[in-house]
Amino acid sequence: MTILAKLDAPPDAVQTAVDYQTYAQQRLEPAIWDYLQSGAGSGATLLKNSAAFNQVPLMPRPLANVAGGDTQLHLFGQTFAHPIVLAPIAYQGLFHTDAERGSAMAAVAQGGQMLVSSLASQTVEAIINAAEKPLWFQLYWQGNRERTLTLVKRVINAGYSAIFFTVDAPVKQASMVLPPHIAAVNLAPALPFNLAANASVVFDGWMRQAPTWDDVQWLRQQISIPLIIKGILHADDALHAMRLGCDGIVVSNHGGRVLDGVPASLTMLPEIAQLTAGKIKVFFDSGITNGQDVYKALHLGADAVLLGRPYVWGLATLGAIGVAHVIKLTRDELEMTMALCGAAQLAHIRVNNRLSDR
Ligand code: FNR
Repeated sequence: MTILAKLDAPPDAVQTAVDYQTYAQQRLEPAIWDYLQSGAGSGATLLKNSAAFNQVPLMPRPLANVAGGDTQLHLFGQTFAHPIVLAPIAYQGLFHTDAERGSAMAAVAQGGQMLVSSLASQTVEAIINAAEKPLWFQLYWQGNRERTLTLVKRVINAGYSAIFFTVDAPVKQASMVLPPHIAAVNLAPALPFNLAANASVVFDGWMRQAPTWDDVQWLRQQISIPLIIKGILHADDALHAMRLGCDGIVVSNHGGRVLDGVPASLTMLPEIAQLTAGKIKVFFDSGITNGQDVYKALHLGADAVLLGRPYVWGLATLGAIGVAHVIKLTRDELEMTMALCGAAQLAHIRVNNRLSDR
C-alpha cells in the first residue's frame, strides 16, 4: 500500500467530518486504520450507535428569532464556545506526528476542551504546555490505589482541571501491537498478574486489578477537582455515581469497542438524563459524526458531547489543522441545526425540538 503525504490544508471535497475518512484511511497503515475504526466482536454495537441517531427526528421551527444566538457552555467554572469535547483516544502518535499536542491545541483554538487519555503517547506536561490552558484528564485505574493516586497527583500538578475516570474497559480484548516509537509514556509498567495454576485470567488477573465502587468513593475523597465517571449505560450506575458525590457521568459504550451487544449509547441517554435531572453533568459519546448528532444528544439530555473517531480522521489527514477543521465543521452544523430548529442557545435545544408544543 502507498502511504500518501500529509496535506497542508483541508481538501475542498471535505464538507463534513465523515468526508475525512477516505483521506485518513489512505494515510494510515491498514492495522492502524483497523485499530481506530473497529468495534468489539461482530461490530453490532458499533452499527447500533450510529443507527440510533437516525431514529431521532429533528423538528424544524421556522420563523423563530434566533439572531444573536450562540453555542456557549459553562462547565466546571470554565466557559467554552461550544459543547463539543475531544474524547480520550489512546496513542495519537499512531495517527500523526502532531499527536495529542496537536489535538489539544486544536481543541483550545476552537474554544473547546480535550480529554487527554491515560494512554497518551506524549507526556501530560508537554500536552498541557502546548494547549496553554487547563485540559481534562481521562484516568484508567492503575491496578491499585497507590499507583492510581501517583498518576492523579501528577496530572493535577501539571494543571489538569477535571478527572474523567473510565470504568467500562477493565478487561482488555483485542489491542494492536504498537510500533516501537509509540508507548503509554505517562504510565508505570503494568503490574504482573502472578496467577496460580488454574486461576482465571479474568477474575484473578484483570479483575483483581480493576476498580470497584469503593475505589470511586475513595477517589472522590482524594481530589477536590471535578470527578466524572466515563462509561455508564445503566441508570442505577448513574445514580450511584451521583450519590458518591461525582460531578458527572459520560453515557458511553466506549464507541462500541468493549462489549459487543450492549445497547446504543443514545438509547440509554434519556432515562439517565431524566433521573439525574440537572444534579450532575451528563456527557454523551458513541456514534456522533456531525452537528445534527450533537443536537440530538443535547436534545435527549446531554450537557455536552465527546467526539471520538471523527477528530482522529482529521488528525490523520492534516494534524492539528485537521482536528480544528473537524471541530469547526461540527460546530457549524450544530449552529445550523439550532437555527432551523428554533434554538438560540443550548438550553433551548431540549424544549424546542418537541414534536408537539401544545
Ligand atoms: C478510544 N476510547 C478511549 N476511551 C478512554 O476512556 N480512554 C482511551 O484511552 C480510549 N482510547 C480509544 C482509542 C480509540 C482508537 C478509540 C476509537 C476510542 C473511547 C473514546 O473515548 C470514546 O468513548 C469513543 O470513541 C466514542 O465513540 P465514537 O465517537 O468514536 O463513535
